Amino acid sequence: MTAPTLEVRGLTCAIGRRTLLRQADLSAEAGTSLSVMGPSGSGKSTLLSCLAGLHTPQAGTIRVVGTDVAALRPGQAAAWRLRTIGFVYQFGELLPELSAVENAALPLLIAGRGRRDAYGTAESLLAELGVGEVADSPASVLSGGERQRVAVARALSTRPPLVLADEPTGALDERTTDDVCDMLFRLPARYGCALVLVTHNPVVAHRADRLLTLREGALHDSAPGTAHDTTTAGA
Ligand SMILES: Nc1ncnc2c1ncn2[C@@H]1O[C@H](COP(=O)(O)OP(=O)(O)OP(=O)(O)O)[C@@H](O)[C@H]1O
Ligand SMILES: [Mg+2]
Repeated sequence: MTAPTLEVRGLTCAIGRRTLLRQADLSAEAGTSLSVMGPSGSGKSTLLSCLAGLHTPQAGTIRVVGTDVAALRPGQAAAWRLRTIGFVYQFGELLPELSAVENAALPLLIAGRGRRDAYGTAESLLAELGVGEVADSPASVLSGGERQRVAVARALSTRPPLVLADEPTGALDERTTDDVCDMLFRLPARYGCALVLVTHNPVVAHRADRLLTLREGALHDSAPGTAHDTTTAGA
């Protein structure tokens, strides 16, 4: 049996005096999606940072495609992240002065791929995600929905096995949210990656194969139709 793309056991993470995650377990298979809801301040973004090896938890193990994230040496972590994790943020976080295609090609260029190859891959991803027409436009002039599609192209450019999305539709209107969700939730089947998506939007959350709620340090499985979100986490 192959290892799940993501396997988390006993994850404990405290910031200051607050324990955000207490002995949390989590796993995601290739080709599936998982969403995480939870009150603001409950630790959802911190969880994603742990999964990407950007934040070191106090205890527990995180394995991504079999690699123990904590065991990566500082010199290895950035290169590992580049080929293993695709990150999509709420506002896209593109470099505004670069064009859409330059933004999408950036991880490949950083990974040492030739320009022709990197731009070719980026262009076909943009076309596939419905933003081929704005490939040469500076990121600063793109609409929110276009920006998110370019951000997804950038996240996918190195064909990472794990895509992490932190409130990817938080800045979009309802219709654009639907469009971007259609595209995001197609990714696991299309690219074979696992998608972990954090959101406050229950409609978005329920589109995932599995829905977890983070509350007071614990991840609870929520059956479709039962997840609820509250405004702020308790101290
Ligand atoms: N680097 C840090 N230094 C100090 N406190 C931090 C840091 N990162 C996160 N926190 C705190 O940890 C808690 C959880 O933050 P986190 O951003 O993970 O919450 P969240 O669930 O993503 O919230 P939101 O839904 O508002 O994005 C918050 O109280 C936050 O202030
Ligand atoms: Mg957050």
